[in-house]
Amino acid sequence: MALDVLLGLQWGDEGKGKIVDYLAPNYNMIARFQGGPNAGHTIVIGEDKFVLHTIPSGIFRENVDNLIGNGVVVDPTILAKEIRGLKAAGLDMKNLKISSKAHLILPTHRWLDAASEAAKGKAKIGSTLKGIGPTYMDKTGRNGLRIGDVSSPDFRAKYDALAAKHKQLVSIYPDVDFDHKGEEERWFEAIEEIKWIPVVDSQYYVNAALKAGQNILAEGAQGSMLDIDFGTYPFVTSSNTVTSGVCNGLGVAPQKIGDVIGITKAYCTRVGSGPFPTELHGEVGEQLRTLGSEFGATTGRPRRCGWIDIPQLKYTILINGVTSLCITKLDILNEFEEIRLAKEYTIGGEKTDQLPFDLNSADITIDFEAMSGWKTDLEGLQSFSDLPMPAQEFLNEIERLLEVPINFVSKGPQRKNLILK
Ligand code: GDP
Ligand code: IMO
Ligand code: MG
Repeated sequence: MALDVLLGLQWGDEGKGKIVDYLAPNYNMIARFQGGPNAGHTIVIGEDKFVLHTIPSGIFRENVDNLIGNGVVVDPTILAKEIRGLKAAGLDMKNLKISSKAHLILPTHRWLDAASEAAKGKAKIGSTLKGIGPTYMDKTGRNGLRIGDVSSPDFRAKYDALAAKHKQLVSIYPDVDFDHKGEEERWFEAIEEIKWIPVVDSQYYVNAALKAGQNILAEGAQGSMLDIDFGTYPFVTSSNTVTSGVCNGLGVAPQKIGDVIGITKAYCTRVGSGPFPTELHGEVGEQLRTLGSEFGATTGRPRRCGWIDIPQLKYTILINGVTSLCITKLDILNEFEEIRLAKEYTIGGEKTDQLPFDLNSADITIDFEAMSGWKTDLEGLQSFSDLPMPAQEFLNEIERLLEVPINFVSKGPQRKNLILK
């Protein structure tokens, strides 16, 4: 009996989807516990590439249950489209379940997201505009609608009342283009289209599975630096992306949590606004973006790129209780003569490996360690000892500084491109 957790240690897009898909056969259930279609988890199987937004990344494996947990916010329009795409690819989707307590993203939540971002001007968060913030605001404001409400006779009345409030609220913001009527029509069609998905009381469902001796993997979305409490506030998302979010997002007690697998790229990226201490603005950043195809899986926006940041990772390892590390996209560094890692910060003349209260306003100087690149293709290499010596030294140095074992090294988008250490 174990509930392991897999989550991102940076600002998202660490390669969670690929690793969950790889590990899924070891589990009976994969469960998303927070976030919504702001996520874009890419899985490459042979020639095919899939991007999942709401559906857990275990969906491609047979006999693995895939649960959309109560902490997730669900947009029926996006979920229906996602299912259509997967069915067209030949998946029967029979292993998908959804929690009755998951909150619904209404079309007007997306409208509000766009309008409130427009009002922020230059200070905008860089939201994916999927309505995430407004939906979680309604959840904590105790106004939200949940999947379990859909079957209630007064669902339409409740919907109309909430949408009417949203329309009033939207009028305080600048005008943005939004086809409200069309979006609403598609939303109600989608509600009908997804009604076949078994709705479960996920807190009972998950705990019964654990009691029956099943293994569950909780799949994080976004990254720990986007956590509402511990991220680079206010440039964050609106959910708890860290391990503690699993308890609230699935209804499991903390002592049920086993391994916590933390994922980090061999460098660092961020999409959207907000501080990013190791960001590279010149040629090297551009090279990372091009080689790493660093464009958002959900919005297509170019991702900002920089070197791996040890103080930042120490911070997220601490908060998440990471027991095992996975380093992804090592292959993207293949062509670099020199590779850097941020070892320490200097803030106000003091050396520190702790993050300040407000990364936004802190004047940080970074102490980088430069290491030799390997200038070799890693394709076909099967074990850690096969890796070129500079690559082994780079990974060993990360492990030494972070004091957590690296158990997985990913070196390509395909399933087979993974080394177990
Ligand atoms: P997620 O949101 O954490 O699931 O990550 P994304 O799917 O948004 O972004 C990761 C991108 O990197 C995807 O395009 C993956 O196919 C790709 N990817 C994952 N691991 C590797 C790797 O080790 N090497 C390379 N080259 N690409 C990878
Ligand atoms: P995955 O699961 C990277 C970022 C947005 C923005 C901020 C708030 O694929 O790693 P939101 O739409 O949540 O209100 O946006 O968070 N963001 C992500 N960045 N990967 C993601 O998900 C993200 N989900 C949200 O770019 O800066
Ligand atoms: Mg992503």
